[in-house]
Formats: sequence, structure tokens, C-alpha cells
Amino acid sequence: MSRINAHYCDLPGSYLFAEIAHRVQEHAAANPHKRIIRLGIGDVTAPLPPAVISALHKAVAEQATPEGFRGYGPEQGYAFLREAIVTDVYQGMNIDPDAVFVGDGTKEDLGNFQELFDLGCRVAITDPVYPVYADSNVMAGRAGPPDALGRFAGILYLPCTAENGFLPDLPGERPDIIYLCYPNNPTGAVLTRGQLARWVAYAREHDCLIFFDAAYEAYITEADIPRSIYEIEGAADVAVEFRSYSKTAGFTGLRCGFVVIPPGVRGRGPGSEPIPLRDLWLRRQTTKYNGCPYIIQRAAEATHTAAGKRETRAIIAGYRENARRIRDGFQALGLTVSGGTNAPYIWVKLPSGMGSWDFFDLLLNRFGIVGTPGAGFGPSGEGHFRLTGFGTAADTGEAMERLRGFTL
Ligand code: MLT
Repeated sequence: MSRINAHYCDLPGSYLFAEIAHRVQEHAAANPHKRIIRLGIGDVTAPLPPAVISALHKAVAEQATPEGFRGYGPEQGYAFLREAIVTDVYQGMNIDPDAVFVGDGTKEDLGNFQELFDLGCRVAITDPVYPVYADSNVMAGRAGPPDALGRFAGILYLPCTAENGFLPDLPGERPDIIYLCYPNNPTGAVLTRGQLARWVAYAREHDCLIFFDAAYEAYITEADIPRSIYEIEGAADVAVEFRSYSKTAGFTGLRCGFVVIPPGVRGRGPGSEPIPLRDLWLRRQTTKYNGCPYIIQRAAEATHTAAGKRETRAIIAGYRENARRIRDGFQALGLTVSGGTNAPYIWVKLPSGMGSWDFFDLLLNRFGIVGTPGAGFGPSGEGHFRLTGFGTAADTGEAMERLRGFTL
């Protein structure tokens, strides 16, 4: 037998959302007449916007014609989409289409990007955190074995607790790479322009890189919260930005996202020479990836048209309204709640002493509602519970009805 990559044995037994799906499936099999409301994984429920559907139909029809048929596409993404992204999203930020790489989703891009770096690089992540940042570094062998709490010596954890408003303090020791996600998954916290500027200044001063996951920027409602890290002066030398069409335009099934790597963002080569990460990522993508399908890229392009933007805004408004109802509903139960204002995620503080997996079981068994235990996002998530606004309005309303009057 061939030896496996032993770092896989250091991972938690299963991926968080796979574990939840497994538990829910078991519960559903044992309770076939119970209607389960899923507010756990952040999967969207609204159908794709009409502009996306007609772009898909058109692109499919093109495939039946000799002129319209497409085989392998450019690994970096078609120019029509990269140009639409720059025009629509990065106006005035000095980002060139050449810096944009279209991929098949932010989870994939974030999971893969770490492979450009030496295994000795120290990675900083917030705690709690979207599990992909940690797990992909564990798989690569950059994290070392876990301790009893499931923490890895090779990872620098930045705790986000009620005491610091769920916003990490700047690291006390220098990491090479810092993962930031704002609006945050799972806490729903946001960084103001001034707060994000401090991170950019830190990265510049300490010669580190920021991987900025902006998957939830479309949920920002308040002023002074940046949607892109490139709104901050100096970020184009130290930050790579990850964007998704999943939570904005309903592409969780279609799969499309993009990474922005400005030419000034560089790593150190074997002789300490600076090497643009853009060139390395291009090399990686041309070797391991044949590009997001043409049909999907045409669908993504449609989200940048006037009609596409109007339609996606309406869908997002619906998810925001769900988030508000969940927030109000849990507050009415006497619980302390954060997030849900500039983010689709609502972060509920559980009564002291209650474990988040216990609350998961309670909500599922008693009310048929699925959420996500905070502990699944890291040790600092214990004592918290995440709900999402991505359900249907009817399910969200029913979930809040089922919970009405419930006392913990
Ligand atoms: C989540 O629920 O945290 C997200 O849906 C996961 C993802 O985007 O991969």
C-alpha cells in the first residue's frame, strides 16, 4: 500500500458542514414526518435571477453552433468577465483585468492559494473562523499536529470574542500570512475603513500578506465599511482579495468566484528575490485548472449588468430581511445576538454553561431547526451558535414561530 499524506490524519474527523449534514440526515431518517428547517450551512435558496438564466440559455445555445462552440477556455478566465468585474467592482481602485483570476468558487480558491507558500510560513487566522483556512493549511503540512483543544502549533490564532467585539487584535508576533474575512463568517462582525487600514499598515510594516475574503460584501448596509480591501491605500502591495458569486447571485451550485492579485503583491523567492504572486498563481492555474466553464462565466457576467444588479439586490434584500427576523427573534428570547446587520450570519450567545453542540441537538430535536454550533468554527466559538438568513422567507418565519416563547 502507498503511504498517504499523514497530515490528513491531523484534521478534525470530518468537515464541519459534512458533519452537520450527516447528523441532520440521521435525524430526518428517524423522524420522517418532521419538516426540518435548514438555517445551518450558508446555502442560498432563492432561484437564480432572470438575467443570469437568460445568459445561461444564450450561452448554451451558442454551444450548438460552429461559431459559438467553446472548448478549453483561458485558465485565467475570459476577458469579457474580467473586464466586467474591473468596471463594475473596482472602479477607481487601479485594478487591471490582468490581476483578476476567475475560478470556480471562493472555497476552492482559498483552499488552493496557500500552496504557493513555503511550509515554514506562519499563518494567522481568527478564532472562530471559516474552517477552510485552517483545514487547507493542515492538509498541506503547515500546521503540525493538533493539541487537545484542536489547535495547531503552526497556526497563530487571533481570538474574536464578545470582549473585543468579535474583532481580532493585531498579532503580537509576526505571521507571514493573515486570513481576514469581512463581513465575517461566522460572527457577522465588520471592520470599518479605519480598522481595516490598521491591518494593511501592519502588513506593510511587518512584510506580511493579507488574504482578504470578501464573499459577503454585498450584505454591507452601513457607511464607512469597505467592500474591498483595495479601498484602503497601500493594500494593492500586500493583499489578495477573494470574491464569490455564491452569496450575491445564488451561484452556490453553479460555482464561480474570482481572486484579485495586483502585480505589487509579491513573495520571496529562494534567493530572497521578490516574485509576483500573480505569476505564480497563473503558473499554478495553467497547470492544474482548465478554467471555469464558458456558460458559467457568461452567467457571472450577467450579474454585472444593470438588470443583473437590480435583480441580485432584490434577492439580497430578502436574505437581509430574514437575518433581521432571526436577530429580532432570538433577541426576543432574551439572548444576546450580534451580526445580521451587515452580514447574512447571526451570532447568538448561548446561556452560560450551554455547549454549542448541545444547543444544536436541542434546536434540531425539539424544533426541527438546523443551525451551526459555534465550536465548529474554533474553540472561541464555543458558547455561540450561528444562524443564516439564506433560508426562504417562509421557512425563516416558521422557524421564528416555532421558537416563540421558548425559554432556555
Ligand atoms: C458557510 O455556511 O459557512 C458557507 O456556506 C460555507 C461556504 O461558503 O463554503
